[in-house]
Amino acid sequence: MGRSSSEKQPKKWDLYQNRSQMKWGVLAVAMVITIASIFYTNQIVKKLKEREAQLVELYAKSIEYAVNVGNRDEVLFLTQNIIVPNNSIPVILTDGVDKPLDFRNIDIDPKISPKQRQKKLRALVEEMKLQHEPIEIIFTDENGGVYDYNYVYYKNSFLLDQLTYYPIVQLSVIAFFIFLAFYAYSNSKAVEQNRVWIGLAKETAHQLGTPLSSLVAWIEYLKMDEDFNYPEVLEELEKDTHRLETITNRFSSIGSIPTLEDENLYEVIRSNVDYLSKRISTKVKISIATNSQVVIAPINRALFDWVIENLCKNAVDAMKGTGNIDINLVEGPEGGVVIDIRDTGGGIPKDKLKKIFIPGYSTKKRGWGLGLTLTKRIVENYHNGKIFVKSSNPTEGTVFRILLPGKDYLLDAEEADLLISGKTASA
Ligand SMILES: Nc1ncnc2c1ncn2[C@@H]1O[C@H](COP(=O)(O)OP(=O)(O)OP(=O)(O)O)[C@@H](O)[C@H]1O
Ligand SMILES: [Mg+2]
Repeated sequence: MGRSSSEKQPKKWDLYQNRSQMKWGVLAVAMVITIASIFYTNQIVKKLKEREAQLVELYAKSIEYAVNVGNRDEVLFLTQNIIVPNNSIPVILTDGVDKPLDFRNIDIDPKISPKQRQKKLRALVEEMKLQHEPIEIIFTDENGGVYDYNYVYYKNSFLLDQLTYYPIVQLSVIAFFIFLAFYAYSNSKAVEQNRVWIGLAKETAHQLGTPLSSLVAWIEYLKMDEDFNYPEVLEELEKDTHRLETITNRFSSIGSIPTLEDENLYEVIRSNVDYLSKRISTKVKISIATNSQVVIAPINRALFDWVIENLCKNAVDAMKGTGNIDINLVEGPEGGVVIDIRDTGGGIPKDKLKKIFIPGYSTKKRGWGLGLTLTKRIVENYHNGKIFVKSSNPTEGTVFRILLPGKDYLLDAEEADLLISGKTASA
């Protein structure tokens, strides 16, 4: 029963450990791929940028050379059409005061007026200024004296722009699809698990049903038999069949959509405590505190009994048969209900807190690790409530907290704390 037995059950464990290790592995690989692909395209972008800058520089130099040397048209034709054919980088040639003189690779409607065109080009020059330093063209006379300046403004080609954003778009699209696939996968797994739960529960209830009704009939028969003189045997038999009926009822409830009925939770908990007290060690004292003897909530009695039983049995196990279980029941101002179940056991180690609700997690020799899974399912899926470990440590024990909704209202953990500490109990 002790925690030391955890080492004896590596099989159940490994399943979960491996799964989470795999998750981290996949995440790490995805990160590496992302970083590598961004780094790689960045390199390409950088190279392309350098090339484009060189091309524009050459374009500027060819103009400068053509004007300074003299046979302008020939040189321009040679450089711009044969040596450096630029048909992708948008460039604007301006005079010394940024007035556009010529342009290339810029989409301008030929039908607009020259004035409008000039305006557009000027706006573009402003835009280009932000991207790159312009390239200066210096005009000199035969003696080397400078008599004028021109500037070549340019911006990234469409290709370069696309390449800059491409990896981001690509990776986002891939990430989106991976997320979608993962979501669909885990959803279909949950659906499958649900089917197993429900199918198994229904089948169990069904199979127990037949011998049970026959047992009940036999008991009735023995009661009428005057030769059968063992009333105490009959009493025990009746108790056991009643217990079997309870179990069958639980399985059949969890295997269908259970009906919820308004019940007084205080009474429900009290009768569970009465039942359990007789069956556990006398060294365990169970007490109930409440802010009202009448706390009505819609529950499924058969399933809710199971919840209380599971939590109390776990508490008894954690205390190794000696200690106190304190149940605190509080009704919120708008009907939400808080139930705290506190034990004085050995607590749950912090790193195990996330695991206790996973099916198959148990530290007990004879545990199936299903008690809390079932409890969570009953509270959250069937009652729309919440269950969590409120606190746990080796010296003070553990507090499990259940929140049940009132009329369209579910307390949150913080409200529940205030309520339990009595600060808003009168509100
Ligand atoms: N009150 C508690 N104090 C300390 N540890 C607890 C407490 N409740 C649960 N645990 C831990 O959580 C584990 C899982 O509990 P759960 O009820 O799901 O399974 P189990 O009790 O081991 O087996 P069973 O299926 O028979 O209930 C326990 O084995 C125990 O280690
Ligand atoms: Mg248990």
